Amino acid sequence: MKTFTITPTSRIKGEINIPGDKSISHRAVMLGAIANGETVIDNFLMGEDCLATIDCFRKMGVDIKENGKQIVIRGEGLHGLRKPDGILDAGNSGTTIRLISGILAGQPFETTITGDASIQKRPMKRIREPLFRMGAVIEGKETDGDLYPPLTIKGGKIRPTEYKLPVASAQVKSCILLAGLYADGKTTVIEPSPSRDHTERMLSYFGSKVEVLGNTVSVRGPASLEGREVDIPGDISSAAYFLAAGILAPESDLLLRDVGVNPTRDGILEVIHRMGGMIEVASERMMSEEPRADMKIRNPKSEIRKLKGIEIGGELIPRLIDEIPVIAVLATQAQGTTVIKDAKELRVKESDRIRTISSELRKLGAKIEEKEDGLVITGPVKLKGAVVKSYGDHRVAMSLAVAGLIAEGETVIEDTDCIETSFPGFESLIKKITS
Ligand code: S3P
Repeated sequence: MKTFTITPTSRIKGEINIPGDKSISHRAVMLGAIANGETVIDNFLMGEDCLATIDCFRKMGVDIKENGKQIVIRGEGLHGLRKPDGILDAGNSGTTIRLISGILAGQPFETTITGDASIQKRPMKRIREPLFRMGAVIEGKETDGDLYPPLTIKGGKIRPTEYKLPVASAQVKSCILLAGLYADGKTTVIEPSPSRDHTERMLSYFGSKVEVLGNTVSVRGPASLEGREVDIPGDISSAAYFLAAGILAPESDLLLRDVGVNPTRDGILEVIHRMGGMIEVASERMMSEEPRADMKIRNPKSEIRKLKGIEIGGELIPRLIDEIPVIAVLATQAQGTTVIKDAKELRVKESDRIRTISSELRKLGAKIEEKEDGLVITGPVKLKGAVVKSYGDHRVAMSLAVAGLIAEGETVIEDTDCIETSFPGFESLIKKITS
């Protein structure tokens, strides 16, 4: 079990590239595999989660070559996948298991897919219901009124559907849209508020017709996708740790190059701005249908910039769902109370993030209260280094590392192997900007 020891820093500086976006990397492999012709992906995230997606498609007969951070896929077309010899393994990746299930629903064979201990605790009824309506049957472990992996997906003739999601979820939405590619007709998903739209953007980039009207998205099947060149921007969810570190350090001068700024993902920028932090977003440009920009943070030593507590909830939540653990760290340093609500989904992520981030930040001295659907944090509090743990959750581990940078004394984070799922090289980038 790896540990990461952090000592406080008074100055953060440097220019860094953040690894490729995890959500977009998964989707590029999936669409590339079922497209006609070749797909070339640049700046692919070589993290364990995305490698699990590659592995699943290789097991279904897709030729995928890795060359550094470039991935080349020989697409098999919508109906070219073959039944894997064994069980597919999604590792720690919820996106892999939920999105692939949509594709598996359209296959004329039965597949079993599972993952690590954390994946086996992630609820899957949310995908079984819509896929069942579309004509696929999913079996798994039935407990506590939900369904858990391993999942066996009996695919077949898929019917179009119109499905209203009870909770905004890009994973569930994407699962249904991917199954909809195999249906004869129009499949529609209606969300209570918009979640990340990478699937929609990439489907249209690969030549499929996608209609978006407010919170309603439709695809038309049977679809025919054409392989493309996809250049992946840096992951704003990974950039968030460096944005927070730059905002919190007494002195900083940091440039993050080429970070994705998709408006369904940029809630962290809005939160930092509302808290009183300054981030300059420059040179915005579009590549492969996704916007990207450079981000600059400058905190001159002479200027004391105070953060203030804010309320975060409603439609903003899906735009920053993965950033809430690091927002909690920011909130410990803000004057007053930060209330995070409408975020019950956090309880069913890689860990129960409401519980895990509050228990660990409390060990560092934070005033943080757990609510059923969020957190209440009161600041500012001088954090003190301690031994904390990640609960095998990459986002908890990296958020605690940011807290360690501003805590007094040494912070030891236990169980940090999980960082490899989304951010290989995180520790060396932290060392680079603090030395
Ligand atoms: C993701 C969607 C989000 C997010 C996850 C990645 C995706 O989950 O938390 O890390 O790539 O679609 P939900 O859609 O379940 O909220």
